[in-house]
Amino acid sequence: MADKIAIVGCGLVGRAWAIVFARAGHAVALHDPVAGALDNALALIEATLPELERNDLLRGSTAAEVREHLAAVGDLEAALAEAVHVQESAPENPEVKRALWAELDRLAPSAAVIASSTSAIPASAFTESLGHRGRCLVAHPINPPHLVPLVELVPAPWTDADVVARTRALMAAVGQAPITLNREIDGFVANRMQVALMQEAYRLVEEGICGVGDVDTAIAEGIGLRWSFIGPFEVGDLNAPDGIADYCRRFSDMFYEIARTQTEARRQSPETIAEFERQRRALLAADQLGERSRWRDRRLMELAVWKTKVARGDLE
Ligand SMILES: NC(=O)c1ccc[n+]([C@@H]2O[C@H](COP(=O)([O-])OP(=O)(O)OC[C@H]3O[C@@H](n4cnc5c(N)ncnc54)[C@H](O)[C@@H]3O)[C@@H](O)[C@H]2O)c1
Repeated sequence: MADKIAIVGCGLVGRAWAIVFARAGHAVALHDPVAGALDNALALIEATLPELERNDLLRGSTAAEVREHLAAVGDLEAALAEAVHVQESAPENPEVKRALWAELDRLAPSAAVIASSTSAIPASAFTESLGHRGRCLVAHPINPPHLVPLVELVPAPWTDADVVARTRALMAAVGQAPITLNREIDGFVANRMQVALMQEAYRLVEEGICGVGDVDTAIAEGIGLRWSFIGPFEVGDLNAPDGIADYCRRFSDMFYEIARTQTEARRQSPETIAEFERQRRALLAADQLGERSRWRDRRLMELAVWKTKVARGDLE
């Protein structure tokens, strides 16, 4: 069995990380200090594994084999013992992270890398005073990481380059898609791009250009189709006969003029939010939200199956 991984905090994200590492053959110790959380996490993972197996999303293992790699460990020090990588997925609260990371740094084996799943707190905010802060960084997933491979590696100013490289290699080896930021920035990469797009979506509706359904259609039935397998730079590279430089020469002036109208950051007023709600509820009744979420999750799984085939080279 491959090296041991410790998952600290086993809610939504922690238990999905456990699947990622266990299906790649790692021994995974799950730790969570809240009563009942570990039993709950294991039960939810067990309920998920058969569907992943049916969809060939367990890297050739069976659900039973993956389950064998998981151990719930109530004692933090025992969970961390002999781990090469610790993936912290505790609540998004700087005080909780600071207290927990002092313990993780004290108890984790000296050679272990310690990574946080935090969505928005830079590692420098909770690792500065740690004795071994060079081994700490952010490894931010998109939920759920067993279906969405992106992981953003964000070092603090004092993170060792070797730690970033080792984490990147581990994430690639377990089938994730790591990207590395050269320095900390609010929102990292994915959320910065998501926020820019959401600001524009909200602006278009606020200004009465079109309704929420039509904005969503522009993404879901338009530019989002390509974005599920190539990003904006490759889109540009392939959308002009001579590649990205040709694309920029053709369209940069037009994009610049549009971008000049998009610079103002806005908060949505209560009236605007009520209008978003009115329009969305006309498209989807509130009592249908749960069913539609499950529909979304099934589509996401099918997309993960297809992307796995693409990554394996099964499709031309
Ligand atoms: N939910 C998402 O979409 C998402 C996506 C990417 C990253 N994240 C990040 O992942 C982390 C976890 O988020 P989540 O959505 O899984 O939250 P969650 O509330 O579902 O899970 C948090 C878990 O941490 C446990 N916990 C509480 N105190 C703890 C402590 N002192 N030490 C260890 N564990 C403790 C809780 O019992 C719970 O099981 C956060 O930093 C969050 O920003 C979340």
